[in-house]
Amino acid sequence: PVNLKGRSLLTLKDFTPQEIHYLLNLAKDLKAKKRMGIQGNLLVGKNIVLLFEKTSTRTRCAFEVAAFDEGAHVTFLGANDSQISKKESIEDTAKVLGRYYDGIEFRGYKQETVELLATHSGVPVWNGLTDLYHPTQILADLLTITEHVHKPLNKVKFAYIGDARNNMGNSLMIGAAKLGMDFRAVAPKELFPGEALVAEMQEVAKETGAKITLTEDVAEGVKDADVIYTDVWVSMGEEDQFEARIKQLSAYQVNMDMIRKTGNPDVIFMHCLPSFHDLETKIGVEIYEKFGLKEMEVTDEVFRSKHSVVFDEAENRMHTIKAVMVATL
Ligand code: CP
Ligand code: NVA
Repeated sequence: PVNLKGRSLLTLKDFTPQEIHYLLNLAKDLKAKKRMGIQGNLLVGKNIVLLFEKTSTRTRCAFEVAAFDEGAHVTFLGANDSQISKKESIEDTAKVLGRYYDGIEFRGYKQETVELLATHSGVPVWNGLTDLYHPTQILADLLTITEHVHKPLNKVKFAYIGDARNNMGNSLMIGAAKLGMDFRAVAPKELFPGEALVAEMQEVAKETGAKITLTEDVAEGVKDADVIYTDVWVSMGEEDQFEARIKQLSAYQVNMDMIRKTGNPDVIFMHCLPSFHDLETKIGVEIYEKFGLKEMEVTDEVFRSKHSVVFDEAENRMHTIKAVMVATL
């Protein structure tokens, strides 16, 4: 039997396939309970702190609502709200927070920070996104696939398009390898996931039956895909890269032509969000003025099409994060 009490979630590398399935099933149960309007009590008496160096909509709100639904209390600390990193080390901050809180969520730049928090706090620490990994997002994505693609996860053909070297590319490859999926990273070579991580996941794939393909060829990469997934071309903290990424990734935009290339009329489109698919944002307008682009990694047409499940995916952040907190606390 699976028991995750006391565990941190820093990357899905640390979790067995069985443990990942356990979290997905728990999320499914918690989602059904919420739909029935049943108030939870699984986290009553627990205190949780959310540390954010980078901004967030989904992750922050999902943690807060998930905690409230099950009776926990939450403290939110944004980039300028505590002594961390400026006047006080990660280690000392972890030791202090561990005395007050039952669990710590961290979003920020370095993976090392979330690891130090876990080492020194003595309580479960959850990675809400670092430059390297975004594991809670992957749980939401896997749950969403089970809801929309009517076959077992180890039969799913999954194509990740675009910046495959970022936190999403890395983490989706890990999740797919663990659950035996057919994973394709479709990107220019310089944006393939890191070689060491690919080698590590190829080893995992040998045990789980997963298939990992890295290709620059869009037609080959998306053929027969059940899922087309993309993420922003420029992640938080890389804002000086816009020009280079537009050049590298223009051929990898998810548009209706790419959807047709899958040959699968039921293919679903996924994106962790936020996404540059229109001119409705401040940065969107800047991109238009500088580069003349109205949409980047995905066209508005695909984003709003019947293929798109992006808002179910966003909702599932909450149910899966709730499962992580319930299981580890
Ligand atoms: N997908 C995701 O992590 O969204 P936020 O940046 O809004 O938290
Ligand atoms: N790769 C993106 C994901 C946002 C949820 C970023 O790091 O900004």
